[in-house]
Amino acid sequence: MERFHVAIIMDGNGRWALGRGLPRVAGHRAGAAAVRRVVEAAPDLGIKTLTLYAFSEDNWTRPAREVTALMKLLGRYLVEETDRCLKNGVRLEAIGRRDRLPAPLVALLEDAERKTAHCRRLHLRLALDYSARRAILDTALRLGNLATEETFTEALGPDVDLLIRTSGEQRLSDFLLWECAYAEMVFTPRMWPMFTGEDLAEAVDAFHRRDRRFGRIASESDARRTA
Ligand code: IPE
Ligand code: IPE
Ligand code: MG
Repeated sequence: MERFHVAIIMDGNGRWALGRGLPRVAGHRAGAAAVRRVVEAAPDLGIKTLTLYAFSEDNWTRPAREVTALMKLLGRYLVEETDRCLKNGVRLEAIGRRDRLPAPLVALLEDAERKTAHCRRLHLRLALDYSARRAILDTALRLGNLATEETFTEALGPDVDLLIRTSGEQRLSDFLLWECAYAEMVFTPRMWPMFTGEDLAEAVDAFHRRDRRFGRIASESDARRTA
């Protein structure tokens, strides 16, 4: 089976919590448990690279209290999960800006990246202080005359095969704009804290049933089905 790249916009933590009369931060805490579940389920589904949108550049505009809580939770996730990643063959990497993240969080990230650099079962990329527009602009400025589709893709990361967004929203919110050129998209009404390994398996099943054409005409079987 060809291994593929799945990216997830983990959305709906706040609404999930408020719907239960809990503070938004409780939703983020439950969201961290969902991350654990999908990371565990991903390798056996054939997923090679999993990119998770954890914090966008625009998320800095949220109340300071929520931002601080999110940074703390991210740190705790790294403390608790780095060893498990190591054990499960998960290579952890962060994408996005690092210069505005709290220094202790950056230290934890670098430690996790160093420790898991050799792991090959799953490449887990956490998008933190991330903006796709910024990533594209930075890459263009850095590559200058060397900019081609290939060098861009090499700099930014592999094309996304399947993009999932939870919580019923159907937008990209500045996530992997270049890499999603031909991504298949799955939108689910489920809030992120409720998302399970089974939900991931279902989305992957739906993805395998799609006819990806990349601009070509429909495959024969597809044409026969719709004739
Ligand atoms: C996603 O959940 C997590 C982050 C963006 C950090 P939200 O916090 O966006 O939850 P909703 O969309 O307000 O419900
Ligand atoms: C996108 O979700 C960012 C993350 C999931 C980290 P948002 O909740 O911030 O996106 P919008 O504001 O609904 O577009
Ligand atoms: Mg949201």
